[in-house]
Amino acid sequence: MKIEVKVCSPSSYRGEAIVVCHFEDSSKLDGAALELDRPSGGILGDLIKRGDFTGKLAQVSVVYTRGALPAYRVLLLGLGKKKDFDLEKARRAFAKAARSVRDLGLAEFAVCLDPAPGGAALEDMTEAAVEGVILGLYRFTQFKTAEENGPREIRRLIFLASDDREARRMKDAAAAAETVSKAVCFARDLVSTPSNEMTPTDMARRAREAAVSKKVRLTVLGDREMRRLGMHALLAVARGSMEPARFIILEYSGGRRGEKPYVIVGKGLTFDSGGISLKPPEKMEEMKADMSGGAAVLAVIKAAAELGLPLNLVGLVPATENLPGGRAYKPGDVLRSLSGQTIEVISTDAEGRLILADALTYAGRFKPRAIIDLATLTGACIIALGDDVIGMMGNDAGLKDGLRKAAGETGEKLWELPIWDDYAELIKSDVADMKNTGGRAGGAITAAVFLGKFVGDTPWVHLDIAGPAWLSKEKPYIPRGASAVGVRLLLRFLRDQAAKRRGK
Ligand code: BES
Ligand code: MN
Ligand code: ZN
Repeated sequence: MKIEVKVCSPSSYRGEAIVVCHFEDSSKLDGAALELDRPSGGILGDLIKRGDFTGKLAQVSVVYTRGALPAYRVLLLGLGKKKDFDLEKARRAFAKAARSVRDLGLAEFAVCLDPAPGGAALEDMTEAAVEGVILGLYRFTQFKTAEENGPREIRRLIFLASDDREARRMKDAAAAAETVSKAVCFARDLVSTPSNEMTPTDMARRAREAAVSKKVRLTVLGDREMRRLGMHALLAVARGSMEPARFIILEYSGGRRGEKPYVIVGKGLTFDSGGISLKPPEKMEEMKADMSGGAAVLAVIKAAAELGLPLNLVGLVPATENLPGGRAYKPGDVLRSLSGQTIEVISTDAEGRLILADALTYAGRFKPRAIIDLATLTGACIIALGDDVIGMMGNDAGLKDGLRKAAGETGEKLWELPIWDDYAELIKSDVADMKNTGGRAGGAITAAVFLGKFVGDTPWVHLDIAGPAWLSKEKPYIPRGASAVGVRLLLRFLRDQAAKRRGK
């Protein structure tokens, strides 16, 4: 879909459809809706008078203008109550509007954000609208034969601006939001792709798409390199599979030379069967999504480079399958990690923390400003917080605050769990430095405490995305399946950091 900004008043826009917004609590039209209502002899006001359109959130009424206006259709879009309005509501509403347009079979539509509702800045509203539209229209159709694809795709979205200055502001905002939204779709595609077509090798190949400029360097470590380095925790997980493991390293240099990078690490389990500690068959197919953290990391690097963020950023993705093959690692095995610390395997299904252990140790090489890892790590996190919430654990208050703020802005729900020292007791081992599980109680936390042993003093946050990475029920702008949670969160966080330092 192509996104354009045109200087044009809504009442002179000539096209298939124009979307204008209305709040639930105003009984009279204003802004663009009013501007369209006057010359058309009140065809929009009539819907409100008769109660057909109330403006409740994401309500869409299609009005055929029948020559009263140059636009063939007006779509009234409800934004809900003014006092409840925020950008998340805007994303949801615009997702719905875009789907209505697609259901009508239209190839393009115009949007008028005049006046930017609820006092939201025009730039923010534009970003929210673009995100809602692109993310709401997302479909994973790669494995569907053509006939089944449903209504055709919308090809063009046109924002109407009142003058050149406004158009310029909207253009920049729309371009940034398009980059971010496309990165989300990229991550969703990777996660949705089944594990037979998304092996660790495939993932490393797709990582090339994140190397969008000379400022991004891609390195992929294979078996031999990892063995030489001593990544035996990662390699142990890979042993049960015929597919070789990969360690993906993406370095984006957008900041000054020598400036400390942010390092983001994503769990890249392209399929998690549980290994010898085999999972039950129900929903096992969803474990193709156990590389959601890794996919998010690739997407974030891609978008950060496209946005040209003025900072240094490293993405690390340990990628492997976890299968119960003849050479598979087993409960009771003791592994020597890259850090030198030894780990007793209690469950081969607690594999994510093993591959992350080596990745977090490797992260130390970059002398990071901060490390953030994303992982579909524990079912326990779902038990603790539910399906929709990211569990956040970490050792640095400032970093946690930054992520909390970013999550508030992107509408990704995030809640902190504590990692008090007491929990370390639960992963003490009789034979090794630690064991890889700490029992059922506090399972999300003991997993994080385990990871913390490979981080050292670097500011670090672990995000457990086991719940929200995969949706069993669709949301307004996230279809069922892969959500790509964390992509917008990290990009918001990094853009905030970049803006802060630019301001200094
Ligand atoms: N990938 C799973 C966690 C998971 C579960 C993600 C459900 C998404 C949905 C992880 O590797 C795992 O199996 N964790 C175990 C840990 C346990 C053995 C300590 C779990 O949560 O059961
Ligand atoms: Mn597992
Ligand atoms: Zn897993």
